Amino acid sequence: MTLPIAGVTGAGSGIGAAIAETLGARGFHVVVTDVDLDSAERTASRLESAKALRLDVTDPDACDAVVNAVVAEHGRLDVWVSNAGISKMQRFIDVSPADLVRNFEVNTYGIFYCGQSAARAMIALTKPGRIINTASMAAKQGRVPFLADYVASKFAVLGLTQAMAFELAPHGIRVNCVCPGFVATPMQTRELSWEAELRGIDPDAVRQMWIDDTPLARLETPNDVAKVVAFLASDDAEFITGEAISVNGGAFMD
Ligand SMILES: NC(=O)c1ccc[n+]([C@@H]2O[C@H](COP(=O)([O-])OP(=O)(O)OC[C@H]3O[C@@H](n4cnc5c(N)ncnc54)[C@H](O)[C@@H]3O)[C@@H](O)[C@H]2O)c1
Repeated sequence: MTLPIAGVTGAGSGIGAAIAETLGARGFHVVVTDVDLDSAERTASRLESAKALRLDVTDPDACDAVVNAVVAEHGRLDVWVSNAGISKMQRFIDVSPADLVRNFEVNTYGIFYCGQSAARAMIALTKPGRIINTASMAAKQGRVPFLADYVASKFAVLGLTQAMAFELAPHGIRVNCVCPGFVATPMQTRELSWEAELRGIDPDAVRQMWIDDTPLARLETPNDVAKVVAFLASDDAEFITGEAISVNGGAFMD
């Protein structure tokens, strides 16, 4: 039997790895991609049916090449999850032009390029497809300390998701994004140290602030996000498109 095919970016770590594992457990063959091939291979090795490929989402030709290779091998592409992202905490006035550009290259352009590649393939295949982008709680509110470039890049993801959903709907392609909150991943570990240093307090105190900011009173897990991505990838969400689903334990309600 041919398995449905899902591609996931930034799947070597954190949320992307959990998404790959959850989609794998729900019967997908998962194309596990990351700029760090070793980490993608580690994730793929935990899945029943998977292949690891290196993909730097800032390279539009590489996005096309990976998507085209998947379609050439399997003859289908059912789900594409653009999840790769980066962050660096610093004061707004200290963000360098190079940091700003890099942030947008990965967080916004990467989602744009991968979305284009996946959509072109899905349109050519004339089969319904689903694209899911990882945005952030910081895509809906700018009341986020030390992440001005990140906030801007993630607000852009939300608008892009709506524009993609609108244009791709006639092709039977649904496009949504998820907006996680304080998720315990390697990205969060880096942010804990940055925020602690910027505030002059202990990382444990920062962690507690984040938990206190979350009505459901714990840090989010990558799996909390992955389950919502799996829902958006499923037919249970067949009439949902252009949405930005908050998954944050109530840390920001809109
Ligand atoms: N952790 C959080 O609290 C949180 C909250 C909201 C949104 N997010 C978003 O979730 C996504 C995943 O974050 P995470 O916390 O799992 O981070 P992470 O750092 O644990 O994992 C990110 C992965 O993306 C990969 N990556 C980085 N640059 C890349 C590139 N150019 N091309 C391809 N892959 C690249 C990294 O190698 C890494 O494996 C990101 O988009 C992030 O902005 C995270």
